[in-house]
Amino acid sequence: MTGERPDAAVGEPRAADTAPAQPFIRPYRREDRDAVFEICLRTAAGGGDATGVYSDDALMPEVFALPYVEYAPDLAFVVDDGKGRALGYILGVADTRAFVEWWTREWGPAFRTRHPHAGPPTGRNPGYTEEQLLAAGADPNRMLIPEVDAYPAHLHIDLLPDLQGQGFGRRLIDTLRAALAEQGVAAVHLGMDPANTAARAFYDRLGFHELPSSRPDAPLLGIATS
Ligand SMILES: CC(C)(COP(=O)(O)OP(=O)(O)OC[C@H]1O[C@@H](n2cnc3c(N)ncnc32)[C@H](O)[C@@H]1OP(=O)(O)O)[C@@H](O)C(=O)NCCC(=O)NCCS
Repeated sequence: MTGERPDAAVGEPRAADTAPAQPFIRPYRREDRDAVFEICLRTAAGGGDATGVYSDDALMPEVFALPYVEYAPDLAFVVDDGKGRALGYILGVADTRAFVEWWTREWGPAFRTRHPHAGPPTGRNPGYTEEQLLAAGADPNRMLIPEVDAYPAHLHIDLLPDLQGQGFGRRLIDTLRAALAEQGVAAVHLGMDPANTAARAFYDRLGFHELPSSRPDAPLLGIATS
């Protein structure tokens, strides 16, 4: 038969076919977009599942994940489950000021059209309200922190629960820091939910430090890329 490999064994699986798939880190690709949406949604409530918290499950991903893979797919990396499905990600932008300009021009107007006002209450009453989330999507200037020139890059990292605690978070941060350093970016920052104490312990362990404008109710952390 044409196309059949002469060395292909028939009927008997080789060791590689039966070995359990091993997760590994790889660059983001366009087909990962739905998985990125899902990972964001399932980790967006202080690290836990935000499904059903807001009137539209797309809101969190449309503010904290999808614009990143749209704008800077080269600075997005995923943990692949070994079979092609993304279980976690790190998303970054190298130049927050340029990202804000793009958001103002491209992402914000379409976001406002899709989400002109808050939807009906879900009964979940999150600390970070739907109104605040809509404002964040409409106003990228919130990203222009006082330290933006010294820490021009910023990031978001999220792993589905089954993948947490196995060292992938550390490796994703290392991967992004190396990619940023290669682009000549000296330092990266992030903002986080103060209620997410597990994530804070993770960042502290990795050597992130508080930036001068960090506040207890709006922590801002930074680290050099090399
Ligand atoms: C926070 C998160 C990214 C961390 O990634 P992770 O893969 O679970 O963490 P790792 O296994 O790589 O841990 C790296 C180091 O941090 C430490 N660490 C991680 N979580 C910790 C915790 N809750 N308390 C204390 N130390 C912690 C680990 O012990 C490890 O130390 P070591 O490398 O020196 O042994 C991941 O758990 C996650 O996605 N959580 C849900 C979503 C979220 O909260 N995202 C962050 C939003 S700001």
